[in-house]
Amino acid sequence: MTKISTKLNYENKIILAPMVRVGTLPTRLLALKYGADIVYSEELIDWKLLKSVRRINDFIDKSDGTVVFRTCQAEKCKVVVQIGTCDAQRALRVAKLIENDVAGIDINMGCPKEFSLKGGMGAALLMQPEKAKAILSLLVQNVSIPITCKIRVFESVEDTLTLVKDLASTGISAIAVHGRTKSERPQHLNRNSTIKAIAQALDIPVIANGGSREIDRYTDILKFRDECGASSIMVARAAEANCSIFSKQGLKELDDVIIDYLKLAVDYDNSPSNTKYCVQNMLKELQETPRGKRFLECQTLEQICAIWDLSDYCRKKQLEYQSKGILGRREVTP
Ligand code: FNR
Repeated sequence: MTKISTKLNYENKIILAPMVRVGTLPTRLLALKYGADIVYSEELIDWKLLKSVRRINDFIDKSDGTVVFRTCQAEKCKVVVQIGTCDAQRALRVAKLIENDVAGIDINMGCPKEFSLKGGMGAALLMQPEKAKAILSLLVQNVSIPITCKIRVFESVEDTLTLVKDLASTGISAIAVHGRTKSERPQHLNRNSTIKAIAQALDIPVIANGGSREIDRYTDILKFRDECGASSIMVARAAEANCSIFSKQGLKELDDVIIDYLKLAVDYDNSPSNTKYCVQNMLKELQETPRGKRFLECQTLEQICAIWDLSDYCRKKQLEYQSKGILGRREVTP
C-alpha cells in the first residue's frame, strides 16, 4: 500500500506572510478561519527560542516570562515557523525544539532591517549563499518537516536565478520570493517579472510575495499569482489591514473582522499589548475618530473588548480560565 504523505504541500496555496508582532496566534487562526491555506509565524530569532522554556503549547522567555511563541492544535498542520538565524547548528537546535509542533520551518533571508543585517541574518544571507545553503542543507537533512526560505530579489534577474537555483539544490520544499531588492521599500514596484522567471526556472513551488499594494480583494490575490506565474501566493500588508482578504466570499466589514479577531485574542489569552498593536494596524486612520481615541486609551483586553461590545464574552472566558487556573499558559478549547 502506498503511504499518503501528510507533509505540508506548498503547491497552489494562499498563505499568510510572516509579519513581526502581527503574525501571532490570533491573526494566524483568523487567517485560517477566513480561508488561508498556510500561515507563517512572525520571525522568531533562533537564540530567543533556544532560551525559552516549553509550557504546554507555549515557549516562554525564561528571563521575563513573556510568550516567545504560542501555538495550538488547530493550526498544527498549517503553521510554518519562520526563524531568523545566521548559524546552521543553532538553526538545527531550534528546528528540533519545534519540529513536532508545527508543519514547516522557514528561514528568513529577506529582512532588510539593521538588526538582522548586523547579525548576519535576513537579507545578509543573500550575500552569503554558501552560509545560506549550509543552513538549509543541515535542516533538510535532519528535520522531519519541510524546510523553506523567504528571499528578496537582486537587481539582476540573472544573479537572482543563480541564487535561487543554488538554494533550491539543498532540497528545500518551496521558496517564497518578495519581488523587491534589499534596499527597495513598499512604494517601489514589485518585480513580478523576476518572480515569473524564478517560477519558470525552478521545479519546486514558488510562493510570490510583495503584491499587497494591488490587492484590494480576493480575486486580486489570484491575479497577482497569475502575473507572477507562481504556484502560490503569500500576502502580508493586505491581510494585516483586513484579514478577510483570504475569504472567497469577499471582504468583511472591518468591525466584524475586529470582533472575530478579538474573540480569538480572548480565547487564546493573547497579551493586551499585542492585541492592541494588531487592532491599531487594522484601524489605521480610524484611530483618529472618537471611538479610535477611546481605543488608544485601553490597557486591558477587557477594555479593548468593551469598545466592540464584547465585555461579557471577555469576562466569561477569563473567569473560565481563572477557575481552571490556566490563564496565561494553556491550550484552550474555545
Ligand atoms: C513584514 N515582513 C516580514 N517578512 C519576513 O520575512 N519576516 C517578518 O517577520 C516580517 N515582518 C513584517 C512585519 C510587517 C508589519 C510587515 C508589513 C511586513 C515582510 C512581509 O512578509 C512581506 O514580504 C512584505 O510586506 C511584502 O508583501 P506584501 O505586504 O506586499 O503582501
